[in-house]
Amino acid sequence: MDHFLYRDGVLHAEDVPVAEIAAAVGTPFYVYSTATLLRHFTLFDDALDGMDHLVCYAMKAASNQAILKTLAQAGAGMDVVSGGEYARARAAGVSGDKIVFSGVGKTADEIRMALTGGIRQFNVESEPEMEVLNRVAGEVGVIAPITIRVNPDVDAKTHAKIATGKSENKFGIPIARAREVYAMAGAMDHLDVIGIDVHIGSQLTDLTPFELAYQKVAELTVQLREDGHDIRRLDLGGGLGIPYARSNEAPPLPTDYGALIKRTVGHLGCEIEIEPGRLIAGNAGLMVSEVIYVKSGEGRDFLILDGAMNDLIRPAMYEAHHDIVPVIEPAPGTEQTPYDIVGPVCESGDTFAKQRMMPPLAAGDLVAFRSAGAYGAVMSSEYNTRPLIPEVLVNADQYAVIRARPTFDEMINRDTIPGWF
Ligand code: LLP
Repeated sequence: MDHFLYRDGVLHAEDVPVAEIAAAVGTPFYVYSTATLLRHFTLFDDALDGMDHLVCYAMKAASNQAILKTLAQAGAGMDVVSGGEYARARAAGVSGDKIVFSGVGKTADEIRMALTGGIRQFNVESEPEMEVLNRVAGEVGVIAPITIRVNPDVDAKTHAKIATGKSENKFGIPIARAREVYAMAGAMDHLDVIGIDVHIGSQLTDLTPFELAYQKVAELTVQLREDGHDIRRLDLGGGLGIPYARSNEAPPLPTDYGALIKRTVGHLGCEIEIEPGRLIAGNAGLMVSEVIYVKSGEGRDFLILDGAMNDLIRPAMYEAHHDIVPVIEPAPGTEQTPYDIVGPVCESGDTFAKQRMMPPLAAGDLVAFRSAGAYGAVMSSEYNTRPLIPEVLVNADQYAVIRARPTFDEMINRDTIPGWF
């Protein structure tokens, strides 16, 4: 459920008409709903009720500081994967003891930054990283709390580009070698081995792969405890999928996922962390765009929008489906016709949807891409020297621009012309 509904024939973000925001900030833009962000966070938090737990929002999904503040105030921790994300979370007021540092290639500088600024734990992904972390912690004069990310060799049954739990993926250490690697970690002076981490992929729409992975983590917990490690925290990653095509998708709910966690690892007495990103932010955001032209092609009509692949890359990159709806609700019974919905960028890949059934649309009409809150704005670029589009946050009847559209000068002046010209 989200808070983007038609009221009196106009799509609203909570209590604000989307057309009103478009008139004020121009198109295209992203708009997020505070109520939906909070609702999704609370679903996870409640699903783990009764267990010692922390929901660490995977901020890579949508990292505007206003979004981070909204979730942090509700009690969320953060999962970060770079020095930049760490700095952003801290700037948004998140304390270090609520920040988990994931990622396959943390540099010594990033590690030092987090150790100095405060960190809840590092999820270590390789032996060489462990050695660097031990060295830097020694230099800073602290003990680094760590989990080790294990790769359980489980097929997440999702798009190949976002599956991470198979042995051929770059992530984690093979679970078969876990005991050996934990023994190495246990012998290091500046590391405190506190738990196990696993994350098998994103946009999972079936709970079975989670179940297989978490069972393996439960078995490993028992073995590592036998080996003398005080395993007291399990980070179970993120990945629960969302319905992108609402008419025919119904992925499992956070409550089902919470029950699965209790069933597979609940008996171990560990503190549980999860790292959801998409399910919190995905359906909490729209990308709103205006039709520039309707063009009749050879046997097909093109809807040419002012939004493009640089603004929302998911369709081009993952063949992802986003529901696209008109901002003005069509009258009941309005006939729909197929359109290819495209952006102005000079690549055929700049296609959002092919032969999508839509009500009649004309230049100047607004459309909204649903489920665009996660991996939308954060993956955008200035390709074709198109400015990064604004982000707007709605809270009941209020809205605020939380990232402004840069001017052409701001973009262009970031270049530096060498002295030899
Ligand atoms: N934890 C780790 C270690 C991750 O790598 C990820 C996502 C998450 C948590 C959050 O997963 P989520 O709950 O959002 O599924 N750009 C792609 C998705 C990439 C996901 C990368 N890792 C997309 O647009 O589909």
